[in-house]
Amino acid sequence: MLLLGIETSCDDTATAVVRDGRAVLSNVSTNQDEFHSKYGGIVPEIASRRHASLLSAAIDDALDRAGTSLDGIDGIAVTAGPGLIGSLVVGVATAKALAFATGKPLYAVNHLHGHLFAAFLDTEAVPPYPFLALLVSGGHSQLVEVESPSELRVIAKTRDDAAGEAFDKTARLLGLPFPGGPALEALARDGNPKAVAFPRYRPEPGALDLSFSGLKTSARYFLASDAAKGVSYADVAASFQAAIVDVLIDRVERALDAREYRAIVLSGGVAANMALATAFRRVGDSRGIPAFVPERRFCTDNAAMIAAAADRRGDLDLRDPLTLTANPNLPFG
Ligand code: KG4
Ligand code: ZN
Repeated sequence: MLLLGIETSCDDTATAVVRDGRAVLSNVSTNQDEFHSKYGGIVPEIASRRHASLLSAAIDDALDRAGTSLDGIDGIAVTAGPGLIGSLVVGVATAKALAFATGKPLYAVNHLHGHLFAAFLDTEAVPPYPFLALLVSGGHSQLVEVESPSELRVIAKTRDDAAGEAFDKTARLLGLPFPGGPALEALARDGNPKAVAFPRYRPEPGALDLSFSGLKTSARYFLASDAAKGVSYADVAASFQAAIVDVLIDRVERALDAREYRAIVLSGGVAANMALATAFRRVGDSRGIPAFVPERRFCTDNAAMIAAAADRRGDLDLRDPLTLTANPNLPFG
């Protein structure tokens, strides 16, 4: 099945053409960072207006690069949530219009399912079921049990901030540009991860929940304290990153102690972090199970993952334009 994917849940205007949920024939993304960076975060009104002006050309571009056209595809997959409502509406309305005009099926995809199925893109080996996924993005941090493409269970969530949000907010305190995660990682490369002993959230034994707000607050107090004077920003960044990685890896280890999985999968924008990806692979090695980390370009928001999820799950078919309702089987909020 050849699907056109459309993703406009946040600030990336992304389109892609994917065959059978695996082979990426094109993957186009126009990032809006230059429009949001001066505000230090995403401005929803700007994001939706940019999507409205960019999306039509981005769809043509993805189809051209894949050597196909609207006639050649078998359906349209679009992110239907969660995300910024104004941004989502641009993608969904455009996808519905295309489906109406062509008579092809329209699949409404949960953005988080997209992240989970990014691990299946452009790779020979795909994760066997059941697998445990660590999904870490700007808006979510979760552990998800994936029994099959349609049986997913969220077994842990963050109590407060998402991991990506913690990266972004602390990066801002360090004077780094938005989005902060990649900038903080680059700064951390020259730093000592043991320079500052930032706190790690550890719930009672066996519990899996995550929390990053204490860590974020502790970074803020540290930077305002006298102790910060003798420590470079690179050391602070490396120590902060190490604390996030430790918490995430500890929860993966706990989940693996509780149940057997055939693989572990890392996904979401924070999966692009090398320190996290390396530690995650090490867990797989020590447990003797394969660890899957999507290619960097499939970790952060993209439309190929949305097409992959629709193909694997056969998500809600929205051919009838009046049925734009949340799929009751979706476990995510
Ligand atoms: O999945 P994503 O592209 O968008 C959401 O669905 O939220 O994730 C974006 C998040 C941002 O918080 C960004 O700072 C973080 O992923 N991120 C990173 C890295 N690359 C992106 N965090 C740490 N290290 C990175 N290399
Ligand atoms: Zn995302």
